[in-house]
Amino acid sequence: MKHKNNSTAIPNYQLKSGCLMPVLGMGTWKLTGKPCEKAVRWGLELGYTHIDTSDDYMNEEWIGKAIWGLDRSRLFITSKVDDSKLHRNDLIQSCKETLEKLGTKYVDLYLIHRLNPTVPIEESMEAMEELVKRSRVRSVGISNFNIAGIQRAIKATQVPVCNNQIKIHPYHYPSNIVEYCKKNGIVVTAYSPLDTGEIVDDDLLTQIGKKYRRSAPQVSLRWLLENGLIVIPKASSKNHLIENRNIFNWNLSDEDSAKLTQSSRESWRG
Ligand SMILES: NC(=O)c1ccc[n+]([C@@H]2O[C@H](COP(=O)([O-])OP(=O)(O)OC[C@H]3O[C@@H](n4cnc5c(N)ncnc54)[C@H](OP(=O)(O)O)[C@@H]3O)[C@@H](O)[C@H]2O)c1
Repeated sequence: MKHKNNSTAIPNYQLKSGCLMPVLGMGTWKLTGKPCEKAVRWGLELGYTHIDTSDDYMNEEWIGKAIWGLDRSRLFITSKVDDSKLHRNDLIQSCKETLEKLGTKYVDLYLIHRLNPTVPIEESMEAMEELVKRSRVRSVGISNFNIAGIQRAIKATQVPVCNNQIKIHPYHYPSNIVEYCKKNGIVVTAYSPLDTGEIVDDDLLTQIGKKYRRSAPQVSLRWLLENGLIVIPKASSKNHLIENRNIFNWNLSDEDSAKLTQSSRESWRG
């Protein structure tokens, strides 16, 4: 794969499965068709290697076009199975379709998108185990799970639950879930790290960013990284992809980090 930039390499977290997961990925919700293909290609040129998708984003085949011909071992692809497909056969079939659309033999991480109370988690996790055994899935995870759900998922399977993908940004920080995951060796991914675009002009983030000549989105992403999280901002614009890529060669001061932590505590009503 060609990397046209010289920006700092993206570090990884090691998952319980042993796989390495880059701490910055490209979110792709609401990106479809040619704009999706184009954005993913730009991201790859900028050195992103981690792509986050889902069976219900309607973009897996466009991501497949963007990654076609690349060295698969250098990519980290996450997909998710919808909560309407959590019975064994549906889950296995859904993964098969995901792999066909992406044009790949395996996904690096496969997540249960959200808990479905009408399907026993044991059945879904058994199907996940089967996919790992068949080398269709490298690591198994969950998304939108609260602590009770995480406990059930862990209990339901022999394979390690490696990742929980949940909504996190400086004004929505479910610290109890984050801490529980960390204690249990589950790496946490912050989805909607820019609150789906709502905090890109936020006053506090902008004010902090001025000191570092960084934008509000960069401050949010950097703060999340410094909290030990994986971030997957979605950007369809090349400039946004570039900006979000540049969050590694600088740090927030303890004082600024504390301001954001304080604000996140005040705004969290979980
Ligand atoms: N597991 C789940 O249930 C779940 C739920 C939601 C999201 N997700 C995942 O998380 C990803 C990210 O969350 P999200 O899509 O809600 O949105 P987000 O990443 O929080 O925000 C995306 C918005 O911010 C804008 N933006 C990005 N970088 C920017 C920058 N540097 N400066 C200014 N604006 C910027 C984007 O604009 P442009 O597009 O115009 O560049 C877009 O409007 C999703 O795409 C998806 O992969 C998972």
